[in-house]
Amino acid sequence: MNNTSADTTTAAGLLAGKVAFIAGAGRGIGAASARLFAREGARVLLAARTETELKAVTEEIRAAGGIADYVLCDLADPASVRAAVDRSVERYGRLDVAFNNGATGQPPGPMDQLSEADFDRVCAVDFKGPWLAMTAEIAAIRATAKRGAIVNTSSVGSLMANPWLPAYGAAKRAVNSLTASAATTYGPEGIRVNAIAPGTTLTDMLYEWDEKSPGTIDQLNSRTPLGRAADPDEIAQAAAWLLSDRASYVTGTVLRVDGGMCA
Ligand SMILES: NC(=O)c1ccc[n+]([C@@H]2O[C@H](COP(=O)([O-])OP(=O)(O)OC[C@H]3O[C@@H](n4cnc5c(N)ncnc54)[C@H](OP(=O)(O)O)[C@@H]3O)[C@@H](O)[C@H]2O)c1
Repeated sequence: MNNTSADTTTAAGLLAGKVAFIAGAGRGIGAASARLFAREGARVLLAARTETELKAVTEEIRAAGGIADYVLCDLADPASVRAAVDRSVERYGRLDVAFNNGATGQPPGPMDQLSEADFDRVCAVDFKGPWLAMTAEIAAIRATAKRGAIVNTSSVGSLMANPWLPAYGAAKRAVNSLTASAATTYGPEGIRVNAIAPGTTLTDMLYEWDEKSPGTIDQLNSRTPLGRAADPDEIAQAAAWLLSDRASYVTGTVLRVDGGMCA
């Protein structure tokens, strides 16, 4: 272990001793994950664009006894993504696991009504972003921990037609493909790569969609066998397990965490 004594955690937990990079960690699923991974013993580096949110979650984790720091990162900016991932190594001396969870939504509507600018933005953040992040993470894991795990956040929208969020759904399906390809490429050196496909989850992204298309949450819940939306922590739990050594023989999968919506 190449960390300072001040950073060393002795806490037992699912992710004890691991350094975790979390993109999109300022709110929603990413913030819940940062809190959970720290409770499970990881030293966490939170990344996103909004400093106030990152700072608030980081301070909350520290106040609860966890080890956390944050870095500004725009997934649409390659240099910023590489610098953010590298910050894990500068700050904690290594990188073991990464959760590529940050993403942007699109204005809901049929594809012929989507502007080219919105299409390009979704592709840059939701498709190219995870590729950039994985590329930097593989290099950082290879250079330090040697073995590790990556989880990308996809969506149930990647598994079905998505008439109201067509660019978003396509970008998430592309993430599933990148995940499978990465799992195949890096499996032989002990780096596992999986995706999670959340269903309806109570975060700002979902509330914004519901605001633009009122009734969306109720409609989605009516198609969900468990009959309700997820709390962000319920998605974080799946990511934590996939990143942990308990999932040591799981790679290349897209794990639905969707209350049965796609069953
Ligand atoms: N909520 C759902 O129902 C649902 C369902 C399926 C999948 N998902 C997926 O779950 C993940 C988390 O979403 P959420 O629901 O928790 O949404 P959220 O509350 O809006 O959080 C999104 C996070 O991503 C960050 N982000 C957005 N654009 C970014 C960029 N260009 N660069 C870096 N970070 C960026 C945001 O921070 P900044 O804006 O400060 O950068 C924020 O921290 C996403 O991949 C989303 O597609 C969500």
